[in-house]
Amino acid sequence: MSKQTSFFTSIGRLYPHVRPILPRLFMGLICALLASIVALTIPQVLRVLVNNSLQPGGSTDAVWIAAVVILALGIAEAGLVALRRQFVINPATTVETRMRVTLYGHLQQLTVAFHDRWGSGQLLSRAMTDLSFLRRWMAFGAIMLVVTTLTVIIGVGVMFSMSWQLALIFLGAAVPIMISSFRFRRRFSLVARLSQDQAGDLATTVEESVHGIRVLKAFGRSREALENFNGQAEELRQTEIAKAKQQASFTLVVTLLPELALGVGLVVGIMLASSGQLSIGSLVAFFATAAVVATPVEFSGMLLAMALTAKTALDRHFEVMDTQNTITSPDHATVPETAKGALRFEHAGFGFDDGGTLLHDITLDIRPGETMALVGITGSGKSALLQLVPRLYDVTEGAVTIDGVDVRDYDIEELRRIVAVAFEDTTLFSSSVRDNVLLGAPDPSDAALDEALDVAQAHFAYSLPDGVDTLIGEEGLSLSGGQRQRIALARAIAAKPGVLVLDDPLSALDVNTEERVEARLREVLRETTTLIVAHRPSTVALADRVALLENGTITAVGTHTELLAENDHYRYVIASLDAGPKDLDTELDELEEAEEARR
Ligand SMILES: Nc1ncnc2c1ncn2[C@@H]1O[C@H](COP(=O)(O)OP(=O)(O)OP(=O)(O)O)[C@@H](O)[C@H]1O
Ligand SMILES: [Mg+2]
Repeated sequence: MSKQTSFFTSIGRLYPHVRPILPRLFMGLICALLASIVALTIPQVLRVLVNNSLQPGGSTDAVWIAAVVILALGIAEAGLVALRRQFVINPATTVETRMRVTLYGHLQQLTVAFHDRWGSGQLLSRAMTDLSFLRRWMAFGAIMLVVTTLTVIIGVGVMFSMSWQLALIFLGAAVPIMISSFRFRRRFSLVARLSQDQAGDLATTVEESVHGIRVLKAFGRSREALENFNGQAEELRQTEIAKAKQQASFTLVVTLLPELALGVGLVVGIMLASSGQLSIGSLVAFFATAAVVATPVEFSGMLLAMALTAKTALDRHFEVMDTQNTITSPDHATVPETAKGALRFEHAGFGFDDGGTLLHDITLDIRPGETMALVGITGSGKSALLQLVPRLYDVTEGAVTIDGVDVRDYDIEELRRIVAVAFEDTTLFSSSVRDNVLLGAPDPSDAALDEALDVAQAHFAYSLPDGVDTLIGEEGLSLSGGQRQRIALARAIAAKPGVLVLDDPLSALDVNTEERVEARLREVLRETTTLIVAHRPSTVALADRVALLENGTITAVGTHTELLAENDHYRYVIASLDAGPKDLDTELDELEEAEEARR
């Protein structure tokens, strides 16, 4: 999943996002830099003070002046640090928000196949943790990294100007620091990536178990779930410890070596001063400067760790952003000459990403206004076949056409306006009944709402606490399975589609409600081309014709009566669907009578 890129390649990708706020980041950098320079100036005042005023015969006034100057410099440094924050915090949060919104937009665009592959927690952690980390890094880590580097370079220059012998001692300490920073970088990158991925997996687990809390409780699996979570959390903890250890051992090096150099330098410095090669003032100033330089060096472990974590966060961000959406509108969308809603499958084939073909050579012709039921044993690929129509997945061979135009040649938004769907697992959003039903409605009026709720026999919605404005979905009132299904059905109907695709939309309803829905649905279906997966003979009865899906392809098409009379597999499937086993011959007779009566 992760491919190795260099630090600067990764960080460079941040540039387009950061460009608008670059002036402010630059000002922040200047402030931080000035603060460092001010800090480096203080030892110089000290040097003048020691060399002149503190010598025998020096004036006491000068001491006071120096004290005031140092105080002023201290205040200036604090002021500049505050100013730096002022400059960068606001724009950094803006960048964070924009990147988050772009990511969300991209996630909406990406195919269903992508979402099949990616755990929700991985996406969640990218949208939340990684991006907020990037913000902190932009506002603080990145600036401080630059400033620290510059401070050290300038500081070392100043040290050289005062005493090259002493400065060399300090520079000597830099060599092992460099070597260990190199090792640190490599190892820390690995654990940082691991820890961010594990945090994502942990988030997936939380999401799944919250989602499935009823199942976990009902099966008494709460303890196992906890143990599993505990294991994952423990893994993450180990990784975090490994990360902290890496950082600690590097920090040890960067703290210890400057201190060591300070000790050696002190001895050498005193020798130099006593032999008159170095003034006392310079000696004092040298060590004061060394102290100013040592602080950022000590922080470099943290800053480097932040930079590496930011790189990982960016890599993770772009893994998602770089994933191309393969299901897009064509450059030049085709508009059919007449919009009647003729749905055809022409030698269509399909397989999920995991290899194998699920559907092959599907040829099916659904005439405008016709209702076609799709029947097949469980797992035969009925739901998959339906999802080819609104292009939730694309065919791997052949084509699906609406009014003679390949669905891939439609503008994708137009296609999804034409095709409305209701799936098996009904998803309702955290908003009102009204918003849920009118989600895709061309005319979001009260009349359209009432009509849709009536067809779906979802009158219960009016007697909810706040009527049709009652909040439902994840954050609202929980509805029963049958209620959810009817809201989802109403949603599909309210969309006034040219082609209606229903995946077993009545499965959770009791027989009486189902009958009432069917009666109303029949009127609607009369004008709408419909492909409906049927698990019950009563649903099959809604259809003009039935298609039988067997071994990945359509093996028979005909009326229910015809198929029942002619097709063994159809009889088998229908018999296995039927709740109460009926005598097939009796049913056949009944149907024939009904057919007769209709003529
Ligand atoms: N996202 C997916 N990735 C890989 N395989 C999948 C995916 N969704 C479904 N499958 C597999 O494809 C096959 C067909 O699934 P599908 O949901 O289309 O069956 P179905 O006919 O609708 O069954 P049912 O009657 O139980 O609803 C199954 O074997 C299933 O395991
Ligand atoms: Mg299904």
